[in-house]
Amino acid sequence: MGFSVDVAFTAKDAIRASQREVVVIIDVLRCCSTVVTALANGATGIIPVETVTEAKSLHKKHPEFVLAGERKGLRPKGFDLGNSPIQFTPSAVKEKHVILTTTSGTRAISSCKNARWMLIGAILNAGATAKAASRIAEKEKRGIQLVLSGTNGSFSLEDFICAGLIIDNLSLNNIDYSDSASASLLTLKQSRERLCEIIQSTQHAKYLKGTGLERDVEFCCRVDAYEIVPFFSNGLLVPLKLR
Ligand code: MLT
Repeated sequence: MGFSVDVAFTAKDAIRASQREVVVIIDVLRCCSTVVTALANGATGIIPVETVTEAKSLHKKHPEFVLAGERKGLRPKGFDLGNSPIQFTPSAVKEKHVILTTTSGTRAISSCKNARWMLIGAILNAGATAKAASRIAEKEKRGIQLVLSGTNGSFSLEDFICAGLIIDNLSLNNIDYSDSASASLLTLKQSRERLCEIIQSTQHAKYLKGTGLERDVEFCCRVDAYEIVPFFSNGLLVPLKLR
């Protein structure tokens, strides 16, 4: 039997598999791109929470943490930062914990929180994510479950293309692709030469551009800009360190 590789179109579809597999949560626009950028710029950890209320009450207990997130793409009132990865500069996050709540991404993370291995993937770190997922799968003889965060509970093309990019970079022999995994590879092959252009044309990219966040979309399209792979451990996302 080969290593099973599957893509769940929404977090809801993935819950059953999440404890057995190496789970990779994907949200290109923008939650996972933000997490990757914040850790790459020196944040000590990201605490993903589901609701604005939860985020605010945690911040009350820890005012030294950065309070960040979005609803409808915009920074909630009283928050330090929104969900624009470009805001997570070293001067904003270095040596600090960040509390993050987003509409779909942090919910997808919460719904798979019981996974033994949960990694965070984006176009920004696709190659590094594939390498880490392959190493864990090989060492522990586990399959890989990629989970698309989507937009407001629905399928997102940019996340599906990113899943294809990660799967295409896996370094495992004998992969048993599910149909959704094969479809993500086919979609990647069709879009590879025009990746950024296609991502720019997705529903959520158009929404973000309409709210003046076009720089975020461009930023999130940069393939392998970072080597960092966030890993979920005890409620915190931290950079993965494999021996
Ligand atoms: C989300 O988690 O729903 C997204 O990251 C939304 C966004 O801020 O673009």
